[in-house]
Amino acid sequence: MSSVPNEPMDYYDGVSIVERPSVAKTLASRVAFPVLALLSREQSYKLHLTPIDDERVIMALKHAKGKVLDIGCGSNTFVRSHGEGTGVDVAPWKGCDVVVEDAAKLPFENDAYDTVSYLACLNHIPNRDDVVKEGFRVTKPGGRVLVTMIPPRLGSFIHWLRERNDPDHKQRHIDHAHELMGMSRQHVTRILKDAGYTDIRSRAFVFGLNRIFIADKPTS
Ligand SMILES: C[S@@+](CC[C@H](N)C(=O)[O-])C[C@H]1O[C@@H](n2cnc3c(N)ncnc32)[C@H](O)[C@@H]1O
Repeated sequence: MSSVPNEPMDYYDGVSIVERPSVAKTLASRVAFPVLALLSREQSYKLHLTPIDDERVIMALKHAKGKVLDIGCGSNTFVRSHGEGTGVDVAPWKGCDVVVEDAAKLPFENDAYDTVSYLACLNHIPNRDDVVKEGFRVTKPGGRVLVTMIPPRLGSFIHWLRERNDPDHKQRHIDHAHELMGMSRQHVTRILKDAGYTDIRSRAFVFGLNRIFIADKPTS
């Protein structure tokens, strides 16, 4: 499926903790959004604004509870910012805790995590149905899943716009043929439901361009 390099790869330069921005910084970042969409994370930090890649982490931090397993973690920004958990990826990004060959076969016990998350990655995972079922296995009863996802057409545009600032697309060397550029609300909902999650709700953020899905693993 992939030819992933063995050497650790830099996802971002340095910064790996995301803090909730002040109201003033959030407002300034909203006004500057069209510019930020063209900038790298590092360039956005230099302007003291919130990089668009951090918006999903900030939103997910609001909904994370307990021990988090972040699948497709990149440089592990979400888990590091939350403070408790494990980041898993198929690519050896610097900062990732566990590199796996297939995220549908995780080296973790049943019911081990309070929150299992997939930030901006389900579309990149070819066997996404099986990967979410595996995530369900390791979610504690009463625990939750978080997914952030952009819709397909907007996703194609954003991936095109940000290609040169996107470490994932620049470096991962994975066969991109089986990836989707985004997923519809119905598609994400169906996958979560098929895996066994219930009470699936979602909320748009950043001008409605992105969406977070939250769902629960039933207690019995
Ligand atoms: C757009 S990046 C998002 C990274 C991180 N979640 C974030 O929000 O910054 C997509 C991530 O999905 C990972 N990925 C790609 N294919 C995968 C697979 N089959 N299983 C697990 N993760 C995968 C990539 O290595 C990359 O880290």
